[in-house]
Amino acid sequence: MSAEAQNGQSNGELLLQVKDLKKHFPIERGLFLKRAVDYVRAVDGVSFDIERGETMGLVGESGCGKSTTGRTILRLYPPTAGEVYFGDVEINSLSGRELHRLRPRMQMIFQDPLASLNPRMTVEGIVGEPLQIHFRASRKERKERVAELLELVGLNPRFSTRYPHEFSGGQRQRIGVARALALQPEFIVCDEPISALDVSVQAQVVNLLEELQDNLQITYLFIAHDLNMVRYISDRVAVMYLGKLVEMATSDELYAHPLHPYTQALMSAAPVPDPVVEGEAQRIILEGDVPSPVNPPSGCRFHTRCPIAEEICSQEEPLLRELAPGHTAACHLI
Ligand SMILES: Nc1ncnc2c1ncn2[C@@H]1O[C@H](COP(=O)(O)OP(=O)(O)O)[C@@H](O)[C@H]1O
Ligand code: SF4
Ligand SMILES: [Mg+2]
Repeated sequence: MSAEAQNGQSNGELLLQVKDLKKHFPIERGLFLKRAVDYVRAVDGVSFDIERGETMGLVGESGCGKSTTGRTILRLYPPTAGEVYFGDVEINSLSGRELHRLRPRMQMIFQDPLASLNPRMTVEGIVGEPLQIHFRASRKERKERVAELLELVGLNPRFSTRYPHEFSGGQRQRIGVARALALQPEFIVCDEPISALDVSVQAQVVNLLEELQDNLQITYLFIAHDLNMVRYISDRVAVMYLGKLVEMATSDELYAHPLHPYTQALMSAAPVPDPVVEGEAQRIILEGDVPSPVNPPSGCRFHTRCPIAEEICSQEEPLLRELAPGHTAACHLI
């Protein structure tokens, strides 16, 4: 089933196409003449696309390359290789000026609102800053638009003269959302926007993001380390391990039939509220940490932790294959 059929909002038009994207960070040595002695292969050949109006979840343990993927897509980091099409514009080939012109259409919401909001700026300054940079809006225009934006995210416009530390975690994330919305973007990378929040306010922020999507037709890439967090907001979910995608399917399909051993392990790590389901599900415990992306394991990168690995796994790299309509996974043994 296509995501279009699933969520009824997207119209089948591809907004974003990511093709074999790579981001390697050089590890430099030398005091005066710096030279790269090795590379952190944070993102190592990732391909997927997102339809307009759709929410794509991106999950994996910490250090798997999710944030780097999001930032490289927005070209906050220059890519090492690969292509990113936004509509029919290839972002990586744009000049600085062309990129600046495209910027308002793609924004990011960060995990830690306190760290990403300037503590010395008022809410009005923070939310209005993009308007000043991109549209040179006047003080009065900014004030009006900020009031509108605060209302849109459920904050009282009277708070606009206050500073970030005067707000709760959930309210601060709303300020981050208002800032991201200021330029009316079509696409937002939400990088673990609720991970740092109390469980009691997580649902409120997710509901807000969904409401905004319905009203403003925004497309999301929603990053989380916990499968449960992306389950309800995502139309489709991509699972990432050590710089590569290992499985991708619609949200319902992925939860009903997780195929890749890594996805299954992530799923057993997540608490299951239904005791009957928990009793039936086979628990796969993920042992150890994610290996270093400087020297990723040979063959299947998951083979050092996979409970069912065989000889071929350390020798040949499994490619993503379509195993059911719209459901792809990279594993030799499924
Ligand atoms: N600016 C950077 N320079 C060097 N290495 C980085 C940088 N950003 C991230 N990394 C490394 O890339 C890998 C992926 O990081 P990240 O994308 O932040 O993962 P995630 O968001 O899934 O936790 C990690 O090993 C991390 O240490
Ligand atoms: S290819 Fe082998 S090591 Fe990799 S997930 Fe499949 S069974 Fe496990
Ligand atoms: Mg991250």
